Amino acid sequence: MRRWISVAAAVVAALLGVAAHVSLYSPISPLPLRLPVSPLTFTPNNLLQRAEKLGEGRLQGPEDVYVDGDGTLYTASRDGWIKRMHAANRSWEDWRLVGGSSLLGLTLSVSGDDVLICDADKGLLKVGKEEVVVLASEVNGSKIRFADDVIEASDGSGVYFSDASTRFGLHEYFLDLLEARPNGRLLKFDPSTKETTVVLADLAFPNGVALSSDQDFLVVCETWRFRCLKHWLKGKKTGETEVFIDNLPGGPDNIKLAPDGSFWIAVLQFRSKGMDLLHRSPTAKKVVAAFPKVVKALQTRGIGGMVMNVGSDGKIRRVLDDSDGKVMSFVTSAMEFQGYLYVGSLHSNFVGKFDLRSDHPL
Ligand SMILES: *[C@@H]1O[C@H](CO)[C@@H](O)[C@H](O)[C@H]1NC(C)=O
Ligand SMILES: *[C@@H]1O[C@H](CO)[C@@H](O)[C@H](O)[C@H]1NC(C)=O
Repeated sequence: MRRWISVAAAVVAALLGVAAHVSLYSPISPLPLRLPVSPLTFTPNNLLQRAEKLGEGRLQGPEDVYVDGDGTLYTASRDGWIKRMHAANRSWEDWRLVGGSSLLGLTLSVSGDDVLICDADKGLLKVGKEEVVVLASEVNGSKIRFADDVIEASDGSGVYFSDASTRFGLHEYFLDLLEARPNGRLLKFDPSTKETTVVLADLAFPNGVALSSDQDFLVVCETWRFRCLKHWLKGKKTGETEVFIDNLPGGPDNIKLAPDGSFWIAVLQFRSKGMDLLHRSPTAKKVVAAFPKVVKALQTRGIGGMVMNVGSDGKIRRVLDDSDGKVMSFVTSAMEFQGYLYVGSLHSNFVGKFDLRSDHPL
């Protein structure tokens, strides 16, 4: 009997210890997230395993890719450099130094001389020949905590960019996902007034942003709500927002307009039976988040690569993947140019180049 009492006392003490640790150290205040079973299931085709590796070893975690009209490929590396590859001779150049390790989405400015880039820590930057200018680091007095992706309207009327989370930065992104509160927003920088305004608030980790071919709407992807929204900029629905595509099999990351008016969306494999279950319990998520090693393990578990081509009507047309991440894991962006898809990944040391005509199964 005495023995049982001491065992019970030890168990109670351990539980109290965990509870105290969780209440002291859990950085999140989670909500439950109930997801319908995704009807979009795909048989892996592993076509991305065919990707040719560009700049292997020279690049560190090229999260986003951008190809200009001449075929020059731009990407930002974790070493703080914007690097580019010339189409004609395929030689790489350390092009412009920004610094830091948090460079994400980038695009060429309408003028063509500068790169607009999101630095997750510093905000929206303009990288010119001579200098780096911070265009926006706060909006209405609230700090931009996690600038993520950017696109500029071709008439120069505005630069749209996402602030994925006002609560957690780049290295804590998984906590935002566990918390499941809409902590992000879509912002617009106006080059003529230099002012930044909120276009859409309360977004669930707004990540990629793209403009339609007529620039009459934009699409912004909400990573952990597993959907992308369509926001009208022109026409009779101006200012209205609707769902573009939802219930995706993973978390949409960057989105890019394709030459034919469709979009390429990189989809992170953040959904699994286990994660869907964990999301139902705020208590379980709060406990998990109190242990950084567990969070890290969840975050870095084998994540394959997937990209989807989606029509301007929101219908999926084509899926390419590397289901076990053998060649391309954690694919974060894809941009099409002249029959090839250029694929970026936060976990790779190269940009993948995939021939879109090679669509036969392996
Ligand atoms: C490659 O081409 C670019 C642009 O045409 C040029 O500036 C660069 O010097 C070339 N690099 C090499 C190694 O030939
Ligand atoms: C700016 O912030 C203030 C105070 O938080 C708020 O009342 C106001 O609505 C905000 N304005 C805009 C345009 O978001």
